[in-house]
Amino acid sequence: MQYFKLSGGQEMPVFGLGTWKSEKGEVYRAVCESVQQGYNHVDCAPIYGNEPEVGEALSEVLRSGQIARKDLWVTSKLWNDAHAPENVLPALQKTLSDLHLEYLDLFLIHWPVVFAPGVGYPQSGDEFLPLEALPISETWKAMEECVKKGLVRAIGVSNFSIKKLDQLLRTAVIAPAVNQIELHPFLQQKDMLAYCADKNVRLTAYAPLGSGDRPDRMKGADEPSLLKHPVIADVAAKHGATPGQILIKWAVTRGTVVIPKSVNPKRIKENIESLSIDLDQEDMEQIASLDRHFRYVTGSFWQPPGSPYTMENLWDEK
Ligand SMILES: NC(=O)c1ccc[n+]([C@@H]2O[C@H](COP(=O)([O-])OP(=O)(O)OC[C@H]3O[C@@H](n4cnc5c(N)ncnc54)[C@H](OP(=O)(O)O)[C@@H]3O)[C@@H](O)[C@H]2O)c1
Repeated sequence: MQYFKLSGGQEMPVFGLGTWKSEKGEVYRAVCESVQQGYNHVDCAPIYGNEPEVGEALSEVLRSGQIARKDLWVTSKLWNDAHAPENVLPALQKTLSDLHLEYLDLFLIHWPVVFAPGVGYPQSGDEFLPLEALPISETWKAMEECVKKGLVRAIGVSNFSIKKLDQLLRTAVIAPAVNQIELHPFLQQKDMLAYCADKNVRLTAYAPLGSGDRPDRMKGADEPSLLKHPVIADVAAKHGATPGQILIKWAVTRGTVVIPKSVNPKRIKENIESLSIDLDQEDMEQIASLDRHFRYVTGSFWQPPGSPYTMENLWDEK
C-alpha cells in the first residue's frame, strides 16, 4: 500500500473501501474480503446505517490477527444533526461504539449543512439552520477537543468549497488534514487540487466510479457514464485493465486518496489491483480532456423549498 503524509504527520493509505450503500448483510463480508485482499482503509459514516456491521467485521479482522489496529485506517464522519459543539463528542462516541474502536484515524464534518435541533432528517426547508446560526468554526473547536482526548488522530471536512476551507483554515488551531469531495474525470476540480496542494490539505476522491448505485431519486436524467466512456475504455484496453481500475489509478496518480465502494469480491480484488497500473503522461492528458464539471452527488437534497441552502451557497459556485 502507498501512503500520503497528512499535515499532522499521519500516513494515510491512498486507497480504501467505500461503504455508502453497502447493505446490511453484505458489508460484513465486504470488509473482511477487502482486508484479505490487502486493504487497510475503510471509509464509514453513521448516516450509511451500517456502522454496527462494519464494526463487527473490524472486530473480526483485528481479533483474528489479519491486521493490527496500528496498520488499519478508519475514517468516519459527523452527521449534520450533530454540529452543535455539545453534540460532537456524543456523536463520535456512538460511532466508536458501533465500530468497536477506541479511536478513529480520521473524523470528518460530513457536510457544511446544519439541521435544526432534534431533526434526524429534514422533511422540509424549515428543518435546517443556516451555517451562520451554527458556524463551522464552533463545530471545529469541538472536533479539535476530540483530537486532544485521543479519540481521533486527524480531523477534516467533506464537501467543502475553497471558500469554506479558507475560512476554516483562518480560525482552526488544528488545520483540517483532509477534504473529502466528489472527484473523477467529469469533475476534476483543478482549482481545489491546486489550493489544497498549497495549503497542505489532502483530498479524498469520493464517487470515483460515478456512484452508479445511488438511489434513483438522487439521479439526473441522462447522466454520463464514466465506466462506459470511450476514452476510459481505450486507456483500459491499452493497459489490459478495466475502466474501473483506470478511474481508481487516475485518482491516485493525481495525488488524491480514493475510496471506491464495492461489496462484490471480484471487484474488491480488481479495485486494489489497479494500484499496480502505471498511467503515463499521454493517458493523463487524454483523461484530463474529459472534465465537464459534472456532479453525481449534487446536494440538491439539502434544498427543499424554504431551505437556507442553495446550489450557490453550498458549493460557492455561480
Ligand atoms: N463524503 C461524502 O459526502 C460522500 C459522498 C459519496 C460517497 N462517499 C464515500 O465514497 C465512497 C465511494 O463513492 P460511491 O459509493 O458513491 O460510488 P463509487 O465508488 O463511485 O461507485 C460504487 C458503484 O460502483 C460499483 N463498482 C465497484 N467497483 C467497480 C468496478 N471495478 N467496475 C465497475 N463497477 C464497480 C459498485 O458496485 P458493487 O458494490 O456491486 O461492486 C457500486 O455500484 C462511498 O461508498 C462513501 O464511502 C462520501
